[in-house]
Amino acid sequence: MCGIVGIVGHRPVVPQLLEGLERLEYRGYDSSGLACLQEGRIACLRAEGKLKNLVEKSARFPLSGTVGIGHTRWATHGRASERNAHPHISGKVALVHNGIIENFVVLREELSAKGYQFASDTDTEIVAHLVSDFLQEGQAPLQALQAALRRLKGAFALCLLVEGEEDVLFAARQGPPLVVGMGRGENYVGSDVVALAPFTRQITYLEDGDCAVVGRDFVAIYDQSGAPVERKPTQAAASFLVSRGDHRHFMHKEMVEQPEVLGRTLARYVDLNSGRIKHHDLDWMKYHRVSFSSCGTAFYATLVARYWFERFARLSVDNDVASEFRYREPSLGTDTLAMFVSQSGETADTLAAMRYCRSVGCDTAALVNVEQSTMAREADAVFATLAGPEIGVASTKAFTAQLVTLAALALDAASQRGQIDEAREKAFVQQLVEVPRFLNETLRLDAQIEILCHSLMNARHALYLGRGTSYPIALEGALKLKELSYIHAEGYAAGELKHGPIALIDDTMPMIAVAPSDRWLDKMVSNMQEVVSRGGHLILITDAQGAAKCGFAANSTVIMPDVPEFIAPIIYALPMQLIAYHTALLLGTDVDQPRNLAKSVTVE
Ligand code: G6P
Repeated sequence: MCGIVGIVGHRPVVPQLLEGLERLEYRGYDSSGLACLQEGRIACLRAEGKLKNLVEKSARFPLSGTVGIGHTRWATHGRASERNAHPHISGKVALVHNGIIENFVVLREELSAKGYQFASDTDTEIVAHLVSDFLQEGQAPLQALQAALRRLKGAFALCLLVEGEEDVLFAARQGPPLVVGMGRGENYVGSDVVALAPFTRQITYLEDGDCAVVGRDFVAIYDQSGAPVERKPTQAAASFLVSRGDHRHFMHKEMVEQPEVLGRTLARYVDLNSGRIKHHDLDWMKYHRVSFSSCGTAFYATLVARYWFERFARLSVDNDVASEFRYREPSLGTDTLAMFVSQSGETADTLAAMRYCRSVGCDTAALVNVEQSTMAREADAVFATLAGPEIGVASTKAFTAQLVTLAALALDAASQRGQIDEAREKAFVQQLVEVPRFLNETLRLDAQIEILCHSLMNARHALYLGRGTSYPIALEGALKLKELSYIHAEGYAAGELKHGPIALIDDTMPMIAVAPSDRWLDKMVSNMQEVVSRGGHLILITDAQGAAKCGFAANSTVIMPDVPEFIAPIIYALPMQLIAYHTALLLGTDVDQPRNLAKSVTVE
């Protein structure tokens, strides 16, 4: 999604703006731009495509100026092009924006009638014109911005500079996050902490409805009513200053650090001395139902969790993709815990689902990777996944960290509700503790997995099948492959094969079977036979026992460590990631920033 960086500095600001924008690349974007005040006038550069195009442009047309704003754009209104890239300028105002202005058509007509010309197809430009219009009426910049904000509907974060105001930037938040960073003799605005990590760790999160005036040595914040407010600064974790190290891609780094990451996450939820789950404040006796809402990969984590919560804790579970949740107007009583799983803690649809639940008085819990995120701040209970910053757009370590956290919570619920005794709890905890070791063993299969991807890279379509907790892993495998390699892939519950997808099978259609030797394996074997007997190309991900049962039918077999059924989905997620990664590398796609995708989706 769009990224914003703004700096009120004491030295030429363009190199820092570019550094901040580089940090924001991970969010996903398709054009970029910057503007600064140069000898009192707005100077602006914009470029379509990757940030290097803007860097090259700024080398050819160097800009000076100590106050500036920068932007990476993920297209919503208007295609990805230089004319639609931000900043947008109107009169004395240059503005960058993340989000969507919903009443864009009405405002555009109104401004056109007043004689404003539009140089882009964006909704952003109307905000620049609107502020400019209020300035021309004689209002001061802050008042002009506040007046404009009162006219806007939608969810957005804005940062702007104004000619004649050499020493300040203006910022506003209504929806997507926006932070203010405090430095020495210079201050910053950013869409997230990662953007500002090279400059400062002193961060203030703006609240919804806030406006800020950011000077070199002061920050003034005003709430929705226009009244000055204090927002407490926090110290951002040093880990936000992430680097790729000697890895070729962030995604590779993030995959191989999973054993360590999950060890850290487990240490938060498991008492290694007693071998039991650490109890958290949540009273699981209060609930009969858990309602999960989430998006993308996080949604698949909740699908796995459903098996654990229903089977071990005897809680009934609903899983919704967050964007649809509100539309079915679910009845939510006090016996329902509404849980929201999100790496970023900012996904607009998930946040909207959470706010809906809060509005009807339902208890909420957020399971997030970013502990300072909006969801974490608004939920009744928060569970951190502790995966550290995830930069690759396709989620890897955040997904498996969500899984171990959900597994631990399911055991906590089961134990509190008397559904498992101490011996069983300890046995399951022991299995969780072994997750990092099994992941390390699986990483050793990397070279073998890379080889099998040669047979996948020429496919136009692929099918992933699984049963039980391997079904959501098949869904996640298919999502990873399509995100990274752009090969069309579908995940299916293996039993559904004969209700449709079997029609697609021929010798050009690879089928990836996620088949640990669990209680569902025999039925999986039958489904694999159905594929092979129709000439399908079978890639089998299984363990030694599974290979003995059905390896003969497969074109390629990856023999995984022999893992207990409970933790199998966590371990089998890794070959799904490696398959997508290597296939994408063979096809030469952009692994860390796949086309059209965004890391933090802050629009509905
Ligand atoms: C985007 C990302 C996915 C992620 C999804 C949900 O689509 O590309 O990797 O799973 O958003 O994001 P969240 O931050 O809520 O987990």
